[in-house]
Amino acid sequence: MKVGLIGSGFMGKTHSFGFATAARVFELPITFEMEIIADISMEQAEDARKALGFNRATDNWRDLIEDPSIDIIDITAPNSLHKEMALAAIAAGKHVYCEKPLAPLAKDALEMAKAAEAAGIKTQVGFNYLMNPMINVAREMIAAGELGEIYSFRGIHAEDYMADPNGPWTFRHDPVGGGALADIGSHILATAEFLLGPISQVMGDCHTLISERIDARGNHRVVEVDDVCHGFLKFEAGFTGAIEANWVATGRSMQHDFEVYGSKGSLHFTQERFNELHYYNSADAAGRCGFRRIVASPSHPPYGAFCVAPGHQIGFNDLKAIEIKGFAEAIAGLTTEPFNFRAGYRIQSLVEAIQTSSRVKAWVATN
Ligand SMILES: NC(=O)c1ccc[n+]([C@@H]2O[C@H](COP(=O)([O-])OP(=O)(O)OC[C@H]3O[C@@H](n4cnc5c(N)ncnc54)[C@H](O)[C@@H]3O)[C@@H](O)[C@H]2O)c1
Repeated sequence: MKVGLIGSGFMGKTHSFGFATAARVFELPITFEMEIIADISMEQAEDARKALGFNRATDNWRDLIEDPSIDIIDITAPNSLHKEMALAAIAAGKHVYCEKPLAPLAKDALEMAKAAEAAGIKTQVGFNYLMNPMINVAREMIAAGELGEIYSFRGIHAEDYMADPNGPWTFRHDPVGGGALADIGSHILATAEFLLGPISQVMGDCHTLISERIDARGNHRVVEVDDVCHGFLKFEAGFTGAIEANWVATGRSMQHDFEVYGSKGSLHFTQERFNELHYYNSADAAGRCGFRRIVASPSHPPYGAFCVAPGHQIGFNDLKAIEIKGFAEAIAGLTTEPFNFRAGYRIQSLVEAIQTSSRVKAWVATN
């Protein structure tokens, strides 16, 4: 199948690596050909074509949509463009892989999900942290009752890429759908529901700390979106939790971390050491108990496809390869998509429920 990739920035590169790695590491049911890459200028697109191994380059993303030989449209452009691009791709009958957030507004994400379902094409949203074998182990342990009755969840996604008050205004500051909660808090919400099932109610508290930035044209722009957001969660299963989304967390580069506490034990995970999961078993003898470190190994599929030796570790780009494997299997009709547009809509609606709660200062149901 021929892939048309839109956007050659951070994620465009990561997706290109993901496709290349997936083809080498897994026995995929389909083969991918990296056919066309699009960016905003011919120079950028051509540089990316050479660096990332595409056959053709264009400065017009619509060329990919109109090309009948392209089977999959992969969108890694800024958030505000996702909807227009994805709907055009769906209308042309192509499968769509889109970065998160699926759209800046939940209503638009829902429209995209419905369009994809009506067209019968396959979709995938980039929630790569869920592809980590160790997150899957955590989910299996919780589902198997190894932690006993679940008491509570605590999660955080903190980085410091917006900590510099002199840093520029970016698409991530767009008043429609921007902010720390939408950009990275979405990831920890996805992890919370992946591990523990649906969240039924939320209470949010979002704050803007750096209220003005300068954009690429030198214009002063008012920032209204959150730099820090805290959310209380009530899960459908009865227990509670809390999350923090923070992109001004000075010194933190990738803190996608959580703890889950239960009557028989607990789990601790930190993304900065994401080849490990820490497990506390309450049944351990007094004086011998403590968190044990479970190291990623071939016992935790699909780690073994990358490396036969335990503890040698997989990396961030490998999570994209796992995501692409799942997408390939769904396109081939072997499984359902790991995280389709409907799931992307769900996360966007949780983000909006927390933002609404912060405005109205009350608990909000997530439906
Ligand atoms: N899943 C993750 O872990 C993760 C991490 C980072 C970013 N993202 C998401 O990926 C998306 C892109 O973020 P990024 O960090 O790669 O941004 P980026 O700025 O590094 O890259 C965006 C690219 O899109 C190009 N672009 C802009 N307008 C375009 C157009 N009209 N046509 C074609 N190309 C266009 C830009 O020139 C740039 O090359 C965002 O939606 C973001 O939320 C996801």
